[in-house]
Amino acid sequence: MSSVFQFSKLAGRMLPSPIRELFQMIRQPGMISFAGGLPDPTAFPVGPFADCADVLSRDGREVLQYGASEGYPPLREILLAMMAERLEFAVRPNELLVTSGSQQGLNLAARVLLDPGDVVIVEAPTYPGTIHSLRNAGARFATVPCDADGMQVELLPEIVARTVAETGRRPKLIYTVPDFSNPSGACMSLERRHRLVALAAELEVPVFEDDPYGKLRYSGDVLPNLKRLAAGDPHVIYASSFSKVLAPGVRVAWTVADPELTRAMVLMRQGEDLCTSTVTQALVAEYCRRGHLENHMSRILEVYSGKCRAMQLALLTHLAPGSASWTEPQGGFFFWLELARGSSRELFDRAVSEKVAFVPGSAFYPGDDEQIGEVHTGDRFARLCFTFADEPAIDEGCRRLGAALG
Ligand SMILES: Cc1ncc(COP(=O)(O)O)c(C=O)c1O
Repeated sequence: MSSVFQFSKLAGRMLPSPIRELFQMIRQPGMISFAGGLPDPTAFPVGPFADCADVLSRDGREVLQYGASEGYPPLREILLAMMAERLEFAVRPNELLVTSGSQQGLNLAARVLLDPGDVVIVEAPTYPGTIHSLRNAGARFATVPCDADGMQVELLPEIVARTVAETGRRPKLIYTVPDFSNPSGACMSLERRHRLVALAAELEVPVFEDDPYGKLRYSGDVLPNLKRLAAGDPHVIYASSFSKVLAPGVRVAWTVADPELTRAMVLMRQGEDLCTSTVTQALVAEYCRRGHLENHMSRILEVYSGKCRAMQLALLTHLAPGSASWTEPQGGFFFWLELARGSSRELFDRAVSEKVAFVPGSAFYPGDDEQIGEVHTGDRFARLCFTFADEPAIDEGCRRLGAALG
């Protein structure tokens, strides 16, 4: 029977999120999951956060009202101070936008910058939520390979020139997660950060710096954000989020971008969700105002660095030498394994029968037919999230993975 609805062309192009689909297959008793990129729920600051709910008794009449599209003023003050520290220069109020998750920040930037058929340069591999959002905006993808030092930025001039030659269009955006990439865990080297900021201005292609993991560093030296290196140059759009450092359920994040772009994003969101929930913004603001975030950060840094070391040790112990290779991440949520042989999709099926789950690498690459230029695929790779499972489960899960790998 034909549908009663006349779906849009966009709806016809949509694809399911590969990771959310996997969740159906791995919901089984006894399964150890390294699949979802989830924070440890036992580390959520439930008590102190619940205490902050008394902000409703104090400011309920304001907090339960519609809020400004730009964000709840007390939270904006906190974010301006936080960003001044992070970037070492003052961010102007008209450069800051509070968003409902950094997913929305990217969505809004994509919607105001892209026309269908435009090309975005993404890292290969990259975060699937970004592929999804950009695909919804009609983007095609040019992919830049990554190594342990992040995106191989030295290839950008050639990729931009090839994109122009093949499509007649200059790429609209370069998307990167310089600190502890999802999925590769890689941290972009300082030299490449400088080079990328210079190239963005030279090639006239803005960079979207997605930074949900930057504060979750367990070893090595802190490196400056691209936005900081770019100083006053408007070519870097910065996004960060409370999802990984506090709780994803709050759906509170923010962008820092040129005022003209920020204004366009504000107008776009006025046709979407009007504003981020004022209630959760007020809770997050109160939580930060009471000084809880600093304490919580020290706690999760301790918990997550322990889990990261536990996974490194468990992989070394349980995987047969030469069966896979990886670089121990210095921060973030993920290990990225390169298999010596076979496909990670096939390994996934064997792993699920051993009751351990991960995400096969292909989820982190645009489809072959969406890529222009050199096509990259992730069939030999596997992403393992180490933050969700507890340390005994990390050890047992890696033992099962070793058994599945053979
Ligand atoms: C790189 C990256 N960007 C954005 C997001 C989405 O974050 P949020 O919860 O703030 O929308 C994630 C979540 O996993 C992520 O890994």
